[in-house]
Amino acid sequence: MSTDGTNYLDALVTKLKSAAAPFRDTLNELHAKYKDVREGAVADYIPELAKADPNAFGISVMSVDGQVVEVGDHQQLFSLQSISKPFVFGLALEDHGREHVLSKVSVEPTGEAFNSIVLDETTNRPFNPLVNAGAIATADLVEGKNFSERISRMLAMFSRYFGRTLYVDNSIFMSERATGHRNRAIGHLMLNFGMIKDRVEETLELYFQQCSLLVNCHDLAVLGATLANGGVNPITGQRAIKAEYVKDVLSIMASCGMYDYAGEWAFRVGLPAKSGVGGGIVAVVPGKFGIGIYSPPLDAKGNSVRGVLACRELSERFGLHVFEAGHDGPSLEDEFRPRRG
Ligand code: DON
Repeated sequence: MSTDGTNYLDALVTKLKSAAAPFRDTLNELHAKYKDVREGAVADYIPELAKADPNAFGISVMSVDGQVVEVGDHQQLFSLQSISKPFVFGLALEDHGREHVLSKVSVEPTGEAFNSIVLDETTNRPFNPLVNAGAIATADLVEGKNFSERISRMLAMFSRYFGRTLYVDNSIFMSERATGHRNRAIGHLMLNFGMIKDRVEETLELYFQQCSLLVNCHDLAVLGATLANGGVNPITGQRAIKAEYVKDVLSIMASCGMYDYAGEWAFRVGLPAKSGVGGGIVAVVPGKFGIGIYSPPLDAKGNSVRGVLACRELSERFGLHVFEAGHDGPSLEDEFRPRRG
C-alpha cells in the first residue's frame, strides 16, 4: 500500500470518526486552545514525578453507555496519586460502614493544602479523606488479615472501576517512599491520637502504592463514567462499589476534591472531581459522563492548570454544572451522538 493510500485511509478514518461525533471537533478545538498554556510547574517534591513531560495534554470523555471521545495524549501513562483517595474511601465505607469510618476521618473541606499536618482540634480526626492525613487514615481502614490481602483487595477494587488490571510504577513508588517523611509525620501524629492502628509503615506502603498506580486519560474517563453510572463500569458491566455509597464518594469529591480551590471549582465548574499531583483530573457528570484529563503542570494548589481550564470550558459550554437551571447552549448528549445524513 502506497503512502498516499495510507494517508487517504487515515484521513478517511479521521473523517468518519469526526462525522460520528461532532464532539470530537469540540475536543480538538479545546485541546488546541489550551495546549500552549505555559503556566504551572510539574510536581517535583516526589523526585520521580519531575520526569513528566510538561507538554503532555490529553482529554477523554466517556458516556454512561460506554461511548468515548478522546484527543491528545489520552494514552500517556501517569501515576494516579490523589485521584486514588475517594475510591479507597469508598472501599473503607464498604468494609466498615459510614459511622465507623466517620469516627476516624471527618468530611469537612479544610481550605488547607493537601499535605497539611493538621487534625480537627476537637476530635483529632483528619478533616476529610482527600487530604493526605485523611487518605492515610482511610488506607488504614482497608480490611485484610495481612498486608498482601489488604493490597490485593485495594487493587481488585481499582480493577473493578477501571475494567483492567492496574500496575504500580515501582520507580514512583520507591521515590514516594524514600521522600515520604511528611506523610510519615502525619501517620505518627494520627497513631498518637488513635486515629490509625499501630502499623504506620504498613499503611503508608498501601497509601504509596495506591498513589503510584499507572493510568491514562482513558482510564480516568472510565473511572468517572463508572461513578456517573451509579457505580457500574459502563464497559464491563461490573459493579465497582455498592450503590448506597456512590453518593458518599461523589459528595466528598464535590466538597473536597480540588483542595483549597474546591470552593471556586464548585462555583465555576460545579462537578464532583478529583485532582492528583501526577497531573490528572477526573470529573463526573452524574448520570451522564466521566471526564478524564492529563496535563502535568500544576498550579499553586496542586491542580493541573490545563485540566482546570478545559473542565471549566466544558462545563460552561455544555451547561454541565450540577445546579444548572438555565443553559440554552448545546447539550453534550447531542454533541456525543453521531451526525445524521
Ligand atoms: O502523598 C502525596 O503527597 C502524593 N502521593 C499525593 C498528593 C496529591 O496527589 C495531591 N494532589 N493534588
